[in-house]
Amino acid sequence: AANPSLTGKTVVITAGPTREALDPVRFLSNHSSGKMGFALAAAARRAGAEVTLIAGPVSLATPPGVKRIDVVDSREMRDAAERAADLCDLFIAAAAVADFRPATVAEQKIKKQDDSEEDVVALVKNPDIVAGIAARSSRRPFTVGFAAETEKVLEHARGKLVRKKLDLIIANDVSTEDGGFDSDRNAVTVIDSTGSETLPPALKTELAERLIEIIAARAFAQ
Ligand code: PMT
Repeated sequence: AANPSLTGKTVVITAGPTREALDPVRFLSNHSSGKMGFALAAAARRAGAEVTLIAGPVSLATPPGVKRIDVVDSREMRDAAERAADLCDLFIAAAAVADFRPATVAEQKIKKQDDSEEDVVALVKNPDIVAGIAARSSRRPFTVGFAAETEKVLEHARGKLVRKKLDLIIANDVSTEDGGFDSDRNAVTVIDSTGSETLPPALKTELAERLIEIIAARAFAQ
């Protein structure tokens, strides 16, 4: 059923992986498909919001009525997110941003050293996109993150909620078969400073509807 809880609100959502180039033909990335973030964008739109979806490289159709900005690496995603967040009420970071990138990008394809069995790629830290948005002192939207965890899921998610100064975090156990990266399903717990609520495992499309209801209520209800 239509849920007009976000009428008049502007929402920005990041989705998918980032790719961090090593050379012209190689990159570091992860298994994020973008399904969770795209489902949230569709649900937010159905709830009446004006939605901008900042997408890493994924092969998904843009949800109807959603403005999509395609990016490749984490710094492009950061720049697009910072720009879009200036005008938004709610920011949701569902993207699996690479935490590190190669320190240098080789101009030519890197050659294998025939006399050596190993090689070392130096990495540097990427900017934390959602923490940057949450740290704003002005034009700060209600800021929601995900926490993709394989162990001590709630404890680690609570740590990220506090460290990144988020308003709410969605803890995502990505160690199970029934959810996480690239699955159509997911299992999550919503956590904020007042407590937590575990949602039953469901399709990402169904979970997205419920998550948008919960987030809208926490962010905008008086
Ligand atoms: O895309 P799917 O295949 O549908 O899979 C969905 C998902 C598992 C990717 C998604 O539900 C999810 O959990 N997304 C967050 C993945 C992640 O990178 O989590 P994290 O615990 O490393 O990061 C914590 C939060 O900080 C996230 O909101 C992330 O978007 C954000 N972050 C992280 C690093 C960084 N440099 N910038 C960020 O904004």
